Order: sequence, then C-alpha cells, then structure tokens
Amino acid sequence: MRVVSGIQPTGNLHLGNYLGAIRNWVRMQDEMGEGEQCLFFLADLHAISMPHDPAELRRATLEMAAALVACGIDPSRSVLFNQAQVPAHAELQWLLNGTARMGWLNRMTQFKDKSGKNREGASAALFTYPVLQAADVLLYQATHVPVGEDQKQHLELARDIAQKFNNDFASEDAPVFTLPDPISPPKAARIMNLRDGTKKMSKSDPSEMSRIELADSPDEVMKKIKKAKTDPEPLPSEEKGLEDRPEALNLVTIYAALTDASVEDVLKDFGGEGFGKFKPALGELLVETLRPISERFTALLDDREALDAILARGASQAREIGRPTLEAAYTALGL
Ligand code: ADP
Ligand code: NA
Repeated sequence: MRVVSGIQPTGNLHLGNYLGAIRNWVRMQDEMGEGEQCLFFLADLHAISMPHDPAELRRATLEMAAALVACGIDPSRSVLFNQAQVPAHAELQWLLNGTARMGWLNRMTQFKDKSGKNREGASAALFTYPVLQAADVLLYQATHVPVGEDQKQHLELARDIAQKFNNDFASEDAPVFTLPDPISPPKAARIMNLRDGTKKMSKSDPSEMSRIELADSPDEVMKKIKKAKTDPEPLPSEEKGLEDRPEALNLVTIYAALTDASVEDVLKDFGGEGFGKFKPALGELLVETLRPISERFTALLDDREALDAILARGASQAREIGRPTLEAAYTALGL
C-alpha cells in the first residue's frame, strides 16, 4: 500500500485546519503497517494556477510544512516534501498531457467552478491542473489516494490517463502506471468561528478572536475561549437541545473532536452545567493539546535550516521513488 496525498499550502493555521485536515493525515500515517508508506506533498505547483503572491506562497508552504511536522507527521516514517522541489511532477505532467484528452478536461466541474464567468481569463494551468494531479500520484505508483467528494472526478481522470497510457504505450505485462484506488478520508470535524458559530473558522476572518491559531500561547487560547460567544442557558443533556444554539454546539463539537468523543458523550458529562464550568474545561483541554504543537511549530519556523533540511530530504527521497517511473514513461514514449 502506498498512499499519496497533496496538501494546499496555507498560512495562519488554526484549530479548524488541525481538527478538519492535518490530524487526518497524521492518523493516515499512523495506520500504515510494515512495508506501507505515505507520501505527503505541499502542492505549491498547484498554487500558481490561481492568482497568487509569491512571498505569501513561500511563507504558507513553510508554515504548512512546520505545522505538519509539529502535529505529528514524522519525516522518518513518511515522505514529506514540496512539489516544486521534485521536477518530475512537472515533467510527467507534460508527458501525460499527450495522453489526456481535451474532452476529458472539459468535463471537469472544478475548472468550471474555479474559472467562474471569466473562462477566457483563467490560466491554462487551471485547465490542465487535473493532469498535474494525475502526475502527482502516478509518479509514485500510488495504490491509494484519499479523496473527498470534490476530488473524485480528478482521481477518475488520473485512472483514465494511466489506463490509456498503458494501453497506447506499454505492453500488457509491463504497464508503466498503477491505477490508484480512492480511499475516503475519515470524516473530519467542521469547526465554526468563535464569534457566531455559524461561519466556519477561517484565516480570512478579520478578527483574530474568531479563531484559535496553532501559534497561540496558552494565555491567548484561554482568553479566546473565555470570550467566545455563548448564551446564558446551561448545556442540555441531549444533542437536540443544541439545535438552535450554534455557538454552544460549536464549543461542544470542539471538545468532542479533541477527546475523540461524540457530542452526545460530552453532553453526558456536561449536561446541566453552565459555560462558567464548561469553558475553563474546554480551554484547559485545548491548551493541553495545543501546547506541544505550538511549541514545536514556532521552534521549526524559527529554525529555517532545520525545516529546509526536512523538506530537502523528503524531496530527495521522492525523486528516488519517482525516478524509475519517470524514466519508464520517457522510454515508452520514444523519448
Ligand atoms: P481557511 O478557511 O482558513 O482559508 P483553508 O481553506 O486553507 O482554510 O483550508 C485548509 C484545510 O483545512 C482544508 O482541508 C479545509 O477543509 C480545512 N479546514 C479549514 N477550515 C476548517 C474548519 N473551520 N473546520 C474544519 N476544517 C477546516
Ligand atoms: Na479558504
């Protein structure tokens, strides 16, 4: 089993990113058995398909890498790297562009969504980036790729490209590419912001009080939880009692996610209690969970050399793993 997964570089990481995304990758890694491996890459090449700020992209890529390591991605067990440091991704994309059909790409709903009304003004990269995604996984002979609903179509495309390439250019007993199977990522928590409980926690919210950031100190975490919007009612003992109380539901959801419990379970413990009791408990739980993460995170960001070394080592491992497949693809094409 070889799992390959790309991660959009994003900065100002917060609790929503951790509970909704990063923690899942760590769990995926921890589920690998003997001879199995995860490759995690920061999708910096994908980022240039949309308007972007180069300095911001560099910062976000490093921040995401630091966060992954701080949260438990272990570079000695998994291969962690950024795409741009492994030229084979871009090379293989070009080779696969010869196999991908315009008609296939025209059917990709994400291009339609992301280009919006300005189809003519969209970058060519936005149109062909599903082919880069195919290259991302085919390069490593991935057997499994975690995909959410919105990425299913792209993985299908990767399989179609692999199959056509194998049919057109390889002999049946020596296919160049493995067809990867989709795996569903575990269902992740969706964390809302601390001010109204109805919009998701996001780095784009102008108020820092609306989110817990991975770099927050224990004092900041306690203060943000203390100030989080709530209502004067005590917590109910059943989930349906939270139906019209999004702020309260959000805080209970955070507690549940942190303890791997259900909302019902948390209410069994805290039903009947007011926020005067629940908030300090939640704050302490958050501090306990985030303290080691934020310490490691800030230490890595302060030690660029260490972080660069981790990424350079990952990139060199990735280049090694991908080399035979890239060479086989060139050869198959008569190049
Ligand atoms: P933001 O909304 O802060 O801009 P991104 O869109 O960069 O975050 O998301 C990066 C990853 O974190 C994605 O996988 C996304 O699904 C996840 N994520 C972001 N915000 C939340 C949230 N509030 N709850 C759960 N997951 C989230
Ligand atoms: Na976003």
